[in-house]
Amino acid sequence: MEMQHVHVLNHPLLQHKLSILRDKNTGVKEFREIVGEIASLMCYEATRDLTTEEVEIETPICKAKVQVLSGKKIAIVPILRAGLGMVDGVTALIPSAKVGHIGLYRDPETHEPVKYYCKMPSDIAERDVLIVDPMLATGGSAVAAISFMKEYGCKNIRMMNIIAAPEGIEAVQKAHPDVELYVAAVDQCLNENAYIVPGLGDAGDRIFGTK
Ligand code: PRP
Ligand code: URA
Repeated sequence: MEMQHVHVLNHPLLQHKLSILRDKNTGVKEFREIVGEIASLMCYEATRDLTTEEVEIETPICKAKVQVLSGKKIAIVPILRAGLGMVDGVTALIPSAKVGHIGLYRDPETHEPVKYYCKMPSDIAERDVLIVDPMLATGGSAVAAISFMKEYGCKNIRMMNIIAAPEGIEAVQKAHPDVELYVAAVDQCLNENAYIVPGLGDAGDRIFGTK
């Protein structure tokens, strides 16, 4: 499998937290908290190449030239519902980011994504976009969400998924070879219901307690 634009973030802290998400005995409260913590840790890596510029400030001791983010505008775009669980973890590190929402659900029969909601910041085309969704399974939702952002005129798009299936990575890379993917784990495969194996089950249900 082509992995040129895939960053597998196998940091020990991420792997430990992910093991708690995978455990079927982990309850809603802990699951939700850990999804947020993982999103923060992943965001730290996914923003490693943001550009900075030099400014001069005064410390209590003397004048100093320091680096600050160079005013690049960022939008976080969660894919509803489960992507919502990652938003706070990202805004904790990028408090000035705006948030756009895309509502997609997978048709239970065909597994094809169905769009039901969309609301973007008015200047979305000028922003660097970080799409977040805990699960990349067939890739249908991710491919549709990225196409959608391109229709809005967005050029710099990256995506963060906690767990990805090889099938999903391949689908995204085929449809959108320009998009960088950041994942904490690449799992074995999909099962007959297009769930990731071993995965963590239904991310939306586990975050919101709907099952
Ligand atoms: C889940 C998940 C992704 C999608 C991944 O959402 O959060 O959006 O499935 O599957 P795919 O790669 O095969 O498209 P789901 O459709 O279960 O909706 P929900 O977040 O509202 O529960
Ligand atoms: N969506 C989920 O929430 N989990 C999976 O394993 C696949 C799609």
